[in-house]
Amino acid sequence: MREFNFEGKCFLKSTDYPKEELNYIIEKARQLKDEKKNNKSHQLLPNKNIAIIFEKPSTRTRAAFSVAAHDLGMNVDYFGQNEIHLGKKESIYDTAKVLGSMYDGIEFRGHEHDDVETFARYANVPVWNGLTNEWHPTQMLADFMTLKEEWGTLEGKTLTFMGDAQNNVASDLLVTGALLGVNINIVAPKSRLPQEKVVTMAKEYAQQTGATIQLSSEVDNTIYQTDALYTDVWFSMGEPENVIEERVAMLKPYQVNMSIIKKVQNPNVKVLHCLPAFHNTQTKVGNEVYQKYGLSEMEITDEVFNSSYSIIFKQAENRLHSIKAIMALTLGGLK
Ligand code: CP
Ligand code: NVA
Repeated sequence: MREFNFEGKCFLKSTDYPKEELNYIIEKARQLKDEKKNNKSHQLLPNKNIAIIFEKPSTRTRAAFSVAAHDLGMNVDYFGQNEIHLGKKESIYDTAKVLGSMYDGIEFRGHEHDDVETFARYANVPVWNGLTNEWHPTQMLADFMTLKEEWGTLEGKTLTFMGDAQNNVASDLLVTGALLGVNINIVAPKSRLPQEKVVTMAKEYAQQTGATIQLSSEVDNTIYQTDALYTDVWFSMGEPENVIEERVAMLKPYQVNMSIIKKVQNPNVKVLHCLPAFHNTQTKVGNEVYQKYGLSEMEITDEVFNSSYSIIFKQAENRLHSIKAIMALTLGGLK
């Protein structure tokens, strides 16, 4: 395998790196996963310190950065919303300068993508995007790593995203999939299809890799042949509550359920979800939606979520291994 040097680099968007380099990160993640499964310690970055900053809540991303940092021998400090001055009493510029002078690397989950870019420009240490309104690049590493484990290869395979296709995860799947040579189908209501600039970007990558891109609002005619079905929540973190009613009504036909699985007619189809998911009423929001609109499952039914098609929890675990790889590479622990 050709070697690449990532030391000192940031990871703000999946498109920061060409296809070969993304595949290389995925391979390193698989190697680190193997080592961990075989109880082989990899304290590659002793005495380093990282900060993880979350302007929005997180379970997986936070846990993955923390555990990965500990596995690599690093100290990790968590800064939640309202725990530091950022945004309220101190600018991103000042915060980035200060934290960059103390920490060796910084994870940032925020609202505006420009904020993570600004952070990276002034911190002078590797900055990793832990999700913004526009992109979710560390999620992409885990997702395509998981699919590569399942499929053995990525090129020429097809992934279909159904649901709110204008959010960060759907946009990133479209562009990153095209970049990696994975055919991407998007099935969503017209008003929730990906933004034009995202489609244009994906088409440019698709031209280079030979991937195909299809966008449609017709559920019945669009579940063509596919190797994977992916969905995400119908309203994302930071969106106002008043979008919920309209989204539920609009996205109901785009739910991933058993009748969709039957339409796919592929016994090996894989079902993915970045999580958290509304697949029952065991959450406050899920229960509220049920009480108000009578829908007990939103973007994915409980049946599909728990079926043998689902690789959702494997995907979640791979957040750890892939985040570990990007940190180890950019901090110089893996050459
Ligand atoms: N998929 C994901 O980013 O999950 P968290 O919001 O829990 O980090
Ligand atoms: N689209 C979701 C992804 C959560 C990981 C959100 O931004 O809330």
